[in-house]
Amino acid sequence: MRGLILSCILIVISGFTRADDGHRLWLKGHSTSGVKVICKRQSATLDIARQELLQGWQGNEGASVQLILKNDKSVKGDGFQLNVNAIQANTDLGILYGVYEMLRRQQTGQSMQNELCNPSFERRILNHWDNVDGTIERGYAGKSIFWRKENSFDVTEADLQLWKAYARANASVGINGSVLNNVNASPLMLTPEYLKRVKVIADRLRPYGIRTYLSVKFSSPALIGGLTTSDPLNPDVIKWWRTKVEEIYQLIPDFGGFLVKANSEGQPGPQDFGRNHADGANMLADALKPFGGIVMWRAFVYEPTEHDRAKQAYNEFMPLDGQFRDNVMIQVKNGPIDFQPREPFSPLFGAMKKTPVMAELQITQEYLGHSIHLAFLSPMWEEFLHSDTYQEGAGSTVARCTDGSLFPQKNTAIAGVANIGLDTNWCGHHFAQSNWYAFGRQAWNHSLTSEQIADEWVKLTFATPADFSDEWNAHFLKPVKQMMLESREAIVNYMMPLGLHHLFAAEHHYGPAPWWEPINWRKDWTPPYYHRADTLGIGFDRTKSGSNAVSQYHEPLQSQFSDVKNCPEIYLLWFHHLPWDYQMKSGKTLWNELCFRYDAGLQQVRQFQTVWDQCEPYVDQQRFGEVQQKLRLQSRNAQEWKDACLLYFQQYSRRPIPDEIERPVNHLDELIQSHLKGQKR
Ligand code: GCU
Repeated sequence: MRGLILSCILIVISGFTRADDGHRLWLKGHSTSGVKVICKRQSATLDIARQELLQGWQGNEGASVQLILKNDKSVKGDGFQLNVNAIQANTDLGILYGVYEMLRRQQTGQSMQNELCNPSFERRILNHWDNVDGTIERGYAGKSIFWRKENSFDVTEADLQLWKAYARANASVGINGSVLNNVNASPLMLTPEYLKRVKVIADRLRPYGIRTYLSVKFSSPALIGGLTTSDPLNPDVIKWWRTKVEEIYQLIPDFGGFLVKANSEGQPGPQDFGRNHADGANMLADALKPFGGIVMWRAFVYEPTEHDRAKQAYNEFMPLDGQFRDNVMIQVKNGPIDFQPREPFSPLFGAMKKTPVMAELQITQEYLGHSIHLAFLSPMWEEFLHSDTYQEGAGSTVARCTDGSLFPQKNTAIAGVANIGLDTNWCGHHFAQSNWYAFGRQAWNHSLTSEQIADEWVKLTFATPADFSDEWNAHFLKPVKQMMLESREAIVNYMMPLGLHHLFAAEHHYGPAPWWEPINWRKDWTPPYYHRADTLGIGFDRTKSGSNAVSQYHEPLQSQFSDVKNCPEIYLLWFHHLPWDYQMKSGKTLWNELCFRYDAGLQQVRQFQTVWDQCEPYVDQQRFGEVQQKLRLQSRNAQEWKDACLLYFQQYSRRPIPDEIERPVNHLDELIQSHLKGQKR
């Protein structure tokens, strides 16, 4: 007992004295014992592997670890075979990944078993939406780590150090590609000065196994190449891209390829010249092919003329299945609209059979409270990856439709829109680091559970094995993990439960504005287009009687989503417009259920505040205070979300808020006014 009291006091004291700015991420392991590393070969990557082992070893004192390069057919790509005292791989990078896995197991207190570890997807890529002027589209963690301001090309020692730390963090979780610039690409990116800087970055990332990719603007031949057109079938345009690609590969021999946003949200594309997506993608793919590069062609397309935005990508891309070159991949956002807190999976997964499709997830929290709200996104990605598309019958999950196990695919990949910036802690919110971590881990192994990932991340980020104890588990690990695992659902509850979507204020996509509908504005950019609330009910009818988006899903999903009684309640108002008195499974009316859900979300955040306050003895003062501050704001925001949505919808439901739940504390008028003034409250 005395021992326990003493250790509590010590933890309390150290908690108050330590300060951690979060810059070291989950990579804090310092060796506590010596290790001998045996490796017959040498390379930049193997040197890193050796160094990491020496630096982070926490196994038996004086043990030796063998790093063995040997061709083994059971090991795929940069996978590895992990043994207690050896790592075997086909590639240097496989060895490095094995080292990180070995250290992770030591640092999280897991036992080491013999295990074959192969990656789920070959390409695990971060998409940086970084602009050449240093700003980041939908970035909430400061400016770009790659670009400073337009036409500024100095590379400082600090840049080099930062890029190395970035590469190391990525490699430690298996990320092996980075698209360095925004999908809304500046044509400047392909000019010689920018490409020179890309080369410097690529050289820095290479030893860690990160390949560099670029987003390109489709009209670059006309904008920077002096041509009169960017028509993909024009011989001069074809030649221009070929020459440009050669120039790139001379600088960066292992360049990964291009990411393209075309004919989407005003970006130029092949349709501007009467051509289709395949014409555009294939022309670029042909230029890249001799060098082994790929094209990731995005399917994020929607026009105001389409009566249901959720349907357009499928309608535009399905007829082109089979027409793409084998080094083209179609990059599809997880949901059919746009990274909402919850969407069903996009029907393009499990639809195209002759074209490799890759998922695009959003790590940056554009629609989940930016870097202010605590949102652990791994459960959302797990839900998505494990959704059954029924493409080849039951078990055709999104993961399997994209990892090459259902169809032979030349390339497999997954992308995540990065949440990284110049902020000291990289991601703005200390807990947002867990999403960078989780993306890498799930991209490497899509069958990892969110619980496992949260467990690893909390241990690596907030403790060392010396801290692990029953007491620490009960008072820190368990409640913090629980909070993380519930956090996304809490956001769904206080922002848009039961399948509601896109109730966001314009532009910043942060606060609520279900009322927002200016005249002369694209309807599909306004919340009423999505919620369709009126005095009769609420929700978007996507059944046969409505837009019939359900028809884009395979059976039995089509019937399940169409049938209001069988439709999962989490997607109810995504697929159905229902009367306010519709009876929910809980026995409540739809209106009452909505009230309860909004309130439950708010209560959950308040509970997170309590959980975190109780964690104070176990966290350094800096991170404790910074997270506490963010939770306060989140709690205030959750209240605003609940009040704004309930008070606004109440105008249509004309029903009282049930007595059992807390009354709104804000006035609808005030919320609307502050939104009109453009305030992010
Ligand atoms: C969203 C986001 C844009 C982004 C776009 C895309 O619409 O708000 O900032 O450019 O997605 O993914 O292309």
